Amino acid sequence: MKFANAQATVYNDTVVRQFAIMTVVWGVVGMLVGVIIAAQLTWPELNLGIPWLSYGRLRPLHTNAVIFAFGGCGLFASSYYVVQRTCHVRLFNDKLASFTFWGWQLVILAAAISLPMGYTSGKEYAELEWPIDILITLVWVSYAVVFFGTVGTRKVRHIYVANWFFGAFIIAVALLHLVNSAAMPVGLMKSYSAYAGVQDAMVQWWYGHNAVGFFLTAGFLGMMYYFIPKQAERPVYSYRLSIVHFWALIFTYMWAGPHHLHYTALPDWTQSLGMVFSLILLAPSWGGMINGVMTLSGAWHKLRDDPVLRFLIVSLSFYGMSTFEGPMMSIKTVNALSHYTDWTVGHVHSGALGWVGLVTMGTMYYLIPRLFGQKKMYSVKAIEVHFWIATVGIVIYIAAMWIAGVMQGLMWRSVNPDGTLTYTFVESVKATYPFYVLRFLGGLLYLSGMLIMLWNTLKTATNGNAVDVPIPAAHIHMTVPAGASA
Ligand code: HEM
Ligand code: HEM
Repeated sequence: MKFANAQATVYNDTVVRQFAIMTVVWGVVGMLVGVIIAAQLTWPELNLGIPWLSYGRLRPLHTNAVIFAFGGCGLFASSYYVVQRTCHVRLFNDKLASFTFWGWQLVILAAAISLPMGYTSGKEYAELEWPIDILITLVWVSYAVVFFGTVGTRKVRHIYVANWFFGAFIIAVALLHLVNSAAMPVGLMKSYSAYAGVQDAMVQWWYGHNAVGFFLTAGFLGMMYYFIPKQAERPVYSYRLSIVHFWALIFTYMWAGPHHLHYTALPDWTQSLGMVFSLILLAPSWGGMINGVMTLSGAWHKLRDDPVLRFLIVSLSFYGMSTFEGPMMSIKTVNALSHYTDWTVGHVHSGALGWVGLVTMGTMYYLIPRLFGQKKMYSVKAIEVHFWIATVGIVIYIAAMWIAGVMQGLMWRSVNPDGTLTYTFVESVKATYPFYVLRFLGGLLYLSGMLIMLWNTLKTATNGNAVDVPIPAAHIHMTVPAGASA
């Protein structure tokens, strides 16, 4: 068939373009909701007495929108782009790939409607009710078929390391979703978990921590291993280290979940196991970070005038920071201070804004011009401005939360000589107020950067044309594709 042959000679970038644009759109939406809830924590009247807009309903909307809509679309876009380029074949099945796009948007829409209405399973990061869970499963299985089908039909013998990370992310998320979402439906939008009591908590945090490890980390490491070498035009610093990094990281993450349940009814040995694996996790995390940063060796000067590379490299420094902080917080005595405080929220956002956010933005700034037949984004100056606004915003956000968190922990544990508490709870809330104002301002800056990105993206897309890139001749004998040449 002439048509099919013509298709087979070019990459399928239609679906990459769709996901890339939606990454930016959902980024704006998710962060806007983040800024709204940050404002509500500062000025509770902003709940406006309307149940749909209450904090308890908007908070899961924020987490779902930033993680699964913004982060998810970024992962779909980059994995589809990378797997085609490193395997030298078109995506395995165009129709199924298109289904993953429309299906995922439907999941997001269903979340955006059902969460403010108050439908929730009550499990953090897995709040969506069972009919939406089934749709997620269908989309995810299709994603796995498209991704692994493409790897299976590759024209390059070697499977580049980025694909290992994307592959592990896809398999692990499938496993996590299926196990943690197992539930008994009792109505169209109501179900009960298949687990009860402490088992339910343990399954939930096995899920929760691996959502961090595989959704918010492994997939983005796949991005890092392709886009940093490409943007820096250097091969990965140590390909051997990247393989060790991969196996060590995926093996260790699976066991660390119980650090979310210190000093609970979970058996003590399980908590200690979680703590030990969390401490071990520092090594592969830093190995990966060093591998990414050192890819720039001999090309450091590029950081001076390439804002895209700066997004990618600074994201790694935040990755290093949050993966140092995480193991420290998993130590039981440290967790006794940090748990329930805003320190956790600071840790989350140094990973989320600093690592996940910046690496996704850098990747999109690499992809978007190429997807629309342009050499660079419409305004490089705007990328520069975005970088600085975002970085200052993150620093304000996380510094405010760290100070607030440690202060809260110390106030709550402070006792008078006669054994009574030094401070009432409401005194700690009052003391936190200025830090909530600061967090709101930091978040507002971060959101402004994202709005600049949306403008720049729309300008680039409308000035360019969607182009189909031809697939180059295969390098059958290529064994170790230097990131720069793949
Ligand atoms: C403009 C940017 C953002 C602002 C202002 C913001 C604000 C907030 C606020 C106020 C909370 C609730 C904290 C609490 O309950 O005490 C929150 C929670 C959360 N946000 Fe964000 N956020 C932003 C961006 C992001 C991004 C980009 C991500 C992920 C990629 C993210 C992930 C999360 C997560 C996982 C939580 C739950 C934390 C926990 O349970 O400890 N946020 N955010
Ligand atoms: C070596 C890596 C890491 C370790 C060992 C680690 C450890 C921890 C610990 C001990 C907590 C506090 C649990 C509690 O007291 O409730 C936590 C919370 C959290 N971390 Fe990390 N962390 C790591 C990296 C990251 C990264 C890179 C991200 C984001 C991209 C992240 C996202 C989160 C989130 C979202 C929570 C809050 C969960 C919740 O309570 O809702 N972590 N982490």
